[in-house]
Amino acid sequence: MQDAGTKLEQGSAQLRCIGCGSVLQSAGRNFRCPDCDDLLEVTYPGWKCADTALRPQDLKASWTERRKSSAYVDQSGVWRFRELLPVPSAPASLVSLSEGNTPVYELPNCARSTGVEALFAKHQGMNPTGSFKDTGMTVAATFARLEGFRWVACASTGNTSASMAAYAARGGMRSVVLIPEGQVSWGKLSQALDYGAVTCQLKTDFDGCMRVLNEVVQRIPVCLLNSVNPYRLEGQKTAAIELLEQFNWEAPDHIIVPGGNLGNSSAIGKACMEMKELGLISRLPKISIIQAEGANPLVRAMRENGGKKLSPMRADTMATAIRIGNPASWKKAVRVLEATGGTVEQVSEVEIALAKAEIGADGVGCEPASAVTLAGLKKLVKQGFIKRNESVVLILTGHMLKDPDFTIKFHRGDLFPDKKDDAAILKEQQRAPIVLDASVEAVLKALEQA
Ligand code: F0G
Repeated sequence: MQDAGTKLEQGSAQLRCIGCGSVLQSAGRNFRCPDCDDLLEVTYPGWKCADTALRPQDLKASWTERRKSSAYVDQSGVWRFRELLPVPSAPASLVSLSEGNTPVYELPNCARSTGVEALFAKHQGMNPTGSFKDTGMTVAATFARLEGFRWVACASTGNTSASMAAYAARGGMRSVVLIPEGQVSWGKLSQALDYGAVTCQLKTDFDGCMRVLNEVVQRIPVCLLNSVNPYRLEGQKTAAIELLEQFNWEAPDHIIVPGGNLGNSSAIGKACMEMKELGLISRLPKISIIQAEGANPLVRAMRENGGKKLSPMRADTMATAIRIGNPASWKKAVRVLEATGGTVEQVSEVEIALAKAEIGADGVGCEPASAVTLAGLKKLVKQGFIKRNESVVLILTGHMLKDPDFTIKFHRGDLFPDKKDDAAILKEQQRAPIVLDASVEAVLKALEQA
């Protein structure tokens, strides 16, 4: 096993502390600044040098050209954009599952019910393991393996563990995941098992798992693959780059992202700021972050103190992916909100469930945590923050099949046994399975009633 911290290979990329600005040659095991303990980020001073400056038209042309290539590195919708990523010196060393290349869907019914004219979903659930985590994991797993790590580790609400276990397996590494017992959907848990992770269900919540893991990585040489690992966020940037390419480099007015540990909103915001700096886009989309009411530490921080301080809370929501009370990347997320002029909003459990069913009814579908985006959009339109004629992209983070239990309970009417007041609005979206005699008449009668 490797003991040294992770180093950047590429000359033009460096690690910098987001707090004190120190530039580091290599990261320690916890990916935090040794001076002030803040998070690190990857920066690219080479982009500003006259002789290595990146020209937007050249970048766009290469990225389009690579779509036709069958090379391993170009098949990945992450590494296709490698000019904006830290790149290992030997491309053959990439750990990739052809991630990225995800679709943008129109959501016509959701647009109508929300009252906006142009509504799109960038579906990151269409990645190899069914969530946006894969775009970051290919970069972080590649660097973990390059550094000689034989073990990788994460704490997770489920998707990170599934993704990490898959990429570890592809890269010939072992993986250990810490997940909160009873709070991870079966779909995600089953993935970690099949991909061969040592899966530890701890009797605590996600934040408790994170605390334990931070100690574990200090004691044994395992590479931490949570989103404090700045390589993860570099890979996750490509969701936004690919989205802008799909929009022909015309930024939508708004991008709406679910907020949990706040790595993804940070990554998407970083990508937009970098694309603007490089002249790939002429204006920034407003990036807004939506949390569940029961797991809303960022919403509270923004409302109570303008995002200067975040107080950890005990989180609770049925959208288990974002059941997080002490998000690691909150400062990076605040920076994105400020730079892009986005906002925060919180949504209730009923609002999440209804929004999820509506996204399903558009033939797209997603997991509960992703549906906070539509639920939040409705509120932001009502408040006038989003105008009806503005274009909006929801980032759907996880595949519908990640959490079928939630979906079945919702349609059977079992999700909110105590919410008698909401029964009528819930009923409108519920499509319970119908049990019938095996006869043609019974089926025809059921169809008549439908
Ligand atoms: N949506 C889904 C489906 C997720 O799995 C997560 C986070 C988020 C949204 C929130 O993204 O943390 O970057 O703000 N899941 C992590 C996990 C925490 O362990 O799988 P974030």
